[in-house]
Amino acid sequence: MESLDQLVQEALEEFRRVKDPDSLERAKARYLGRAGILTGLLKTLGRLPPEERPVAGARINQAKQRLEEALARTREALAWRTLEERLASEALDVSLPGRGQGVGGLHPVTRTLARIEALFASIGFEIASGPEIETDYYNFTALNIPEGHPARAMHDTFYVEGGLLLRTHTSPIQIRYMERHTPPVKIIAPGKVYRVDSDATHSPMFHQVEGLWIDRHITFADLKGVVADFLARFFERDTLRIRFRPSFFPFTEPSAEIDMSFGEGWLELGGCGMVHPNVLKFVDIDAERYQGFAFGLGVERLAMLRYGVNDIRAFFENDMRFLKQFN
Ligand code: FA5
Repeated sequence: MESLDQLVQEALEEFRRVKDPDSLERAKARYLGRAGILTGLLKTLGRLPPEERPVAGARINQAKQRLEEALARTREALAWRTLEERLASEALDVSLPGRGQGVGGLHPVTRTLARIEALFASIGFEIASGPEIETDYYNFTALNIPEGHPARAMHDTFYVEGGLLLRTHTSPIQIRYMERHTPPVKIIAPGKVYRVDSDATHSPMFHQVEGLWIDRHITFADLKGVVADFLARFFERDTLRIRFRPSFFPFTEPSAEIDMSFGEGWLELGGCGMVHPNVLKFVDIDAERYQGFAFGLGVERLAMLRYGVNDIRAFFENDMRFLKQFN
């Protein structure tokens, strides 16, 4: 009985020190559990002389009650502490500055396309379009590239299900447009094209802009004039050096490659030529009455030269540090 007060003090001290609910339950078991110290004391009552039992029993029960009250208070305090810690860790600091609202910008290729369209529209070209998934007929056959023609192999075509393909150039739009319109035809047709091709100057998806002008008396001189004038205005330079280098395309005759002077050398921008009579035949246009020119320019090549970009892949990696420069 003498040590009872001391025992109570020890227990209260221990309750005060616990940091988490588990340790508290362990401390409780040590004093109040079935094999606990106080329970043990109660069991020894039987050994006391009968007249001392009521007093001792009452004191032990009092002690037990004090501990149980302390236990309840500690439990509650621990629960509060847990809640406060959670609130602190999950708190949002509403006074932190926001992320800011950057102003978006157009992609450099989109800008280039818009510029090309505006320049050609200003000299009377209409804008046409066609599907990116094409048939063999529009991508090749109607452009005077019959089956087995070596030019087909040069196109590195992506074939898709159902005998269809991803167009390898914008030239099929020429055919689709001329099927539904009679001359004079004066269009440009910008769009995405696809080839199995990838390095610093070639991308598997890129853009071309097709040009087509069919009328009576259109000559190669018109082709040179329109292309040279467009490039001078696109690059805003009167002294631009360009050349038409003899080349071959099955759908034009004669054909040329359009090169632009670039540093020490020349850079190829696209192909062009006078529309081949066989192509006009495919769309029922009388080649005796009408003739004209067509060209196909690489849009990324134009953008690379205008903005000084030396790797075409930069356009398609979505690196914000690159794209932000065009805002
Ligand atoms: C053609 O695609 C012809 N259809 C162009 C044409 C149209 C000729 C009308 C005559 C009349 P070519 O395969 O050379 O031609 O491609 C034209 C331009 O597209 C190239 O000069 C180049 O600027 C660009 N180009 C070609 N392949 C890629 C590629 N993988 N990545 C980026 N640009 C490319």
